[in-house]
Amino acid sequence: MKGVILAGGLGTRMMPCTKVTNKHLLPVYNKPMIYYPLMTMVNAGLKDIMIVTGGNYAGDFLRILGNGKEFGLKDISYTYQEGEGGIADALKLSENFAEKEKIFVILGDNLVEDDVSEHVAAFEEQKKGARIFLKEVSDPERFGVAEIKNRKVINIKEKPKKPKSNYAVCGLYMYDSEVFEIIRNLKPSARGELEITDVNNEYIRRGTMNFSIIKGWWTDAGTFESLYRASKLVAERENKIG
Ligand code: G1P
Repeated sequence: MKGVILAGGLGTRMMPCTKVTNKHLLPVYNKPMIYYPLMTMVNAGLKDIMIVTGGNYAGDFLRILGNGKEFGLKDISYTYQEGEGGIADALKLSENFAEKEKIFVILGDNLVEDDVSEHVAAFEEQKKGARIFLKEVSDPERFGVAEIKNRKVINIKEKPKKPKSNYAVCGLYMYDSEVFEIIRNLKPSARGELEITDVNNEYIRRGTMNFSIIKGWWTDAGTFESLYRASKLVAERENKIG
């Protein structure tokens, strides 16, 4: 399985910090944000990883991550998203890199406490389709929200005013190679973007979507409030480990 980390966007929600670098390079406690999804992938055994970036500071990724040696990687692949076309639009750029293998996608501003190796292994076993990660939260209206019936996800709604559950769809996704055909057939949403939630709903429609529940903490870090929370969670974990 190959890994794709999505780290594009203009970071407008994090101005003025993003005037001088990419949002995904801002510090979460003692490391740049991008380190965390990268470590999640490396710890799950992935070796072939691509970073999709964009905006004015794409070169900063090379300076910080280089060839990935610090993470035990032989190299890292990079590509560039022009403009702000949404998460699914960014993912589209990894099609050649994926070479029809399954992919594990993490949004560059998502952090998880758990080692996700067992879920990656479960998806390796899965013949086809996709697998998403869910986490019960107190503010589901900030996220994609899963509607669950008979232990199956039957629908996902992006940032619903009246959420059908407390299960947020985390920014970690596993897909088979059909994902690129699905993206090609997507229509832009009301905000003019290709939505990852539409990709996931298509897998649900095809009956090939599975899910894993995240046991430890999960957080995004894409707003000042969530960045602060992410830093606190990481600091607590570091201090626990010593
Ligand atoms: C994106 C997804 C959303 C998901 C969230 C996780 O939202 O669209 O479904 O729950 O990431 O962080 P965004 O943070 O881009 O608004």
